Amino acid sequence: MAALPDATRGRLLYGGDYNPEQWPESVWPEDIRLMREAGVNLATVGVFSWARLEPRPGAREFGWLDRVLDLLHEGGIDVCLATPTASPPPWMGARHPETLPRDEHGRTVWYGSRNHFCASSRVYRDYARRITEDLARRYGSHPALRLWHVNNEYGTHCWCDGSAAHFREWLQERYDTLGALNEAWGTAFWSQRYDSWEEIIPPRRAQYLNNPAQQLDFHRFTSDALLGCFTAERDVLAAHSPDIPVTTNFMPLFSGQDGWAWASEEDVVSVDVYPDPRAGWEDAAGAPHGALVQDLTRSQARGPWLLMEQAAGPVNWRGVNHPKPDGLMRLWSLQAVARGADGICFFQWRQSRQGSEKFHSAMLPHAGEHSRLFRQVRALGSELTRLTDVVGDQVPAGIALLHDWESWWADGQDGRPSAGLDYPATLTAWYQALWEQNLTCDFAHPEATLDGYRLVVIPHLYLLTDAALDNLTAYVRAGGTLICGFFTGVADADDRIREGGVDSRLRLLLGLTTVHEWWPLDEDASVRLDNGARGTVWSEDLETDTATTLAVYAEGELAGRPALTRHTFGTGVALYVSTLLERPALRTLLADAAAAAGVLPVLPGAPAGVEAVRRGPLLFLLNHNREPVTVPLPQPGTDVLTGTRHEEEVTLDRYGVAALRS
Ligand code: GLA
Repeated sequence: MAALPDATRGRLLYGGDYNPEQWPESVWPEDIRLMREAGVNLATVGVFSWARLEPRPGAREFGWLDRVLDLLHEGGIDVCLATPTASPPPWMGARHPETLPRDEHGRTVWYGSRNHFCASSRVYRDYARRITEDLARRYGSHPALRLWHVNNEYGTHCWCDGSAAHFREWLQERYDTLGALNEAWGTAFWSQRYDSWEEIIPPRRAQYLNNPAQQLDFHRFTSDALLGCFTAERDVLAAHSPDIPVTTNFMPLFSGQDGWAWASEEDVVSVDVYPDPRAGWEDAAGAPHGALVQDLTRSQARGPWLLMEQAAGPVNWRGVNHPKPDGLMRLWSLQAVARGADGICFFQWRQSRQGSEKFHSAMLPHAGEHSRLFRQVRALGSELTRLTDVVGDQVPAGIALLHDWESWWADGQDGRPSAGLDYPATLTAWYQALWEQNLTCDFAHPEATLDGYRLVVIPHLYLLTDAALDNLTAYVRAGGTLICGFFTGVADADDRIREGGVDSRLRLLLGLTTVHEWWPLDEDASVRLDNGARGTVWSEDLETDTATTLAVYAEGELAGRPALTRHTFGTGVALYVSTLLERPALRTLLADAAAAAGVLPVLPGAPAGVEAVRRGPLLFLLNHNREPVTVPLPQPGTDVLTGTRHEEEVTLDRYGVAALRS
């Protein structure tokens, strides 16, 4: 992973998507003036400019972009230059309908919006390569260029004939023989055996449930097909400007890409953070959701990362779109810095007056430079210059949460024991129980090396590969502490059920003889445990072998059966939790296990709603409460944001932040 472009200059990046093609050129000098006033030092240009750059096949109109880059450079603003390949011009779809995606029913997904490309289309890929090559040639050594931004939020799916042919190639590579594919997909079931590669299609709309192993492979294939588009553009850019890092912006906690595989192909990992659509701005879930995405991105990056997009105010894609109250945009931006971001950017710089996002907020709103929002944007830009101490620094974490996109895909299919299984919700519940106690964690792939983590937590990984099981076994044997959540290690990499309820290696590790049956709980139902905790979503009929039972189910069909177990294995400990505990119990479980493993909260006893994170030399305190709060300090410190020295305590305003240096 290359360093972020400005790490050596010792400043945090600040800026946003800049779409000057939506405005007359007479507006551009004002943009530069106001960007400078706001402290903007990075503008992401050209994300949706393809039709402007290539108005007809093969034509090139670069003059306007030359002027934009020169103006930005003269203004001292660096450029994150995008390849425009997320939104092909209408002529491409009109002339080459095979570039347009088709949905599961075979219906065309038309142009007239964006993201209308089939990742497997040779025609699309050729046009994408050529415009990328010409951009790289023309701007690869432009003095304003700091970062390449490929495409935008990759995430399309396509079930067309071109994708089918590409899928078959991908499958041949993976399985080599048709026999191996038939075995992996379990095609003996429902007479699905394939007799020739040509018969294989993507899992299109069928009469009843699709083959789950085929669906899982289609997820893998789609992620790889899109990644192929990314790496093809990346390689062109790298060939022309080897010193300029390349990124593509991820969506937050998005299931459409294997984020581990993708991140390893990027020079800089970047993400767009918009709170979970299930939560509102004012909803308490916004802050932990942001923290989760930020910690995941830092883990993907193995260090500093870039917040490529967030909203300065309201978005336009919820039912009701609220502005952010005073302080919230700053709070969530500084949360990202605290959790490892070396740059804070927005969608977008100037609010559009036309198009589908004209009601989406921007740094410079319709209300102009004297607006409340722009004042806050300016203030944030100035504050970020006081946080140079953390640029390039790490966020120490003693806990790893294991997360795997493949397991998410396998887990999210139809025909499961419960439609209430919700992978991101379960992951979030466990994460939030750590976050609420200021126990900092990283995320890790289940096959990743876990050395250095004192506590490893698996909220729920239905699919665990043999390599992952060996990894977990070695980790605990060598003295690690593992907490394993329900319905984990049930299937192998082909979504084939491992016998005995969960895999035998995991049972050995957990000290369980078997899991007799899954007993999912109804929506809104819960079950009491004899230690006073309540479980939701799920319960299991377990039989222990060498494990100790810490709590049993206290009611219902499983009354008296083990719910929570503990097992010493090698020199380590493995706990099993067969239900989704409600948060108070989850917090206690995690706090106790963390303390026993020698991991302490960043700020023990911090008031509720106060997030405490250490990054480099600074202790960040973030008040997510809507009223002021006083936080006792473990040692005196100076708030680098205000210059004020605090001896024993610091009072944070509503949505207030302190960044303390001791
Ligand atoms: C995404 C896109 C942007 C914009 C925002 C709106 O993050 O990348 O182009 O559409 O959503 O929230």
